Amino acid sequence: MKNIVLVGFMGSGKSSIGHRLARKLGYQFVDTDYAIEEVTGLTVEQIFAKHGIKRFRGEEVLLVSKLADKEGVVIATGGGLVLNSQNVEKLQQNGIFICLQASPETICKRVKNKRTRPLLARGNLKEKVIKLLQERKDAYDMADLTISTDHLEPDDIVKIIYKFLL
Ligand code: S3P
Repeated sequence: MKNIVLVGFMGSGKSSIGHRLARKLGYQFVDTDYAIEEVTGLTVEQIFAKHGIKRFRGEEVLLVSKLADKEGVVIATGGGLVLNSQNVEKLQQNGIFICLQASPETICKRVKNKRTRPLLARGNLKEKVIKLLQERKDAYDMADLTISTDHLEPDDIVKIIYKFLL
């Protein structure tokens, strides 16, 4: 059983879709941000503030090493996890990558949870989103399936992924 790896920008719906998809498939669900918070005993915001982004990216690498050996897990990745090609290679060994896409407008409406998103905490939100999306385009483009989520309901997105996996 392959793992299903959900990738994409903050606010693209990876966690909420991941939950629903895991339930439908009867798979375990792992949200990498929450798994890192559990392991470290710190919130994502605290890791960034106390130890910096490098430490957070390091925690992602450690977590990916553990997840790569698993089977039948839906993994909702933090938006920056696939920027590290080592993470991608490890997860690709037993994983199907699904990218959830959303427009900057949709993302700005959705990214309310500042606790897990310190990168968006300061400055002009929309400008930041557009800049980061541009920088990350190639990293998200490598997915096996990309779904534009702007005009779809969560259940429809789950159905599309489910059909793709059949
Ligand atoms: C990040 C996305 C966040 C979280 C961290 C860094 C990023 O996860 O991992 O704040 O670099 O895009 P979500 O994509 O789940 O919001």
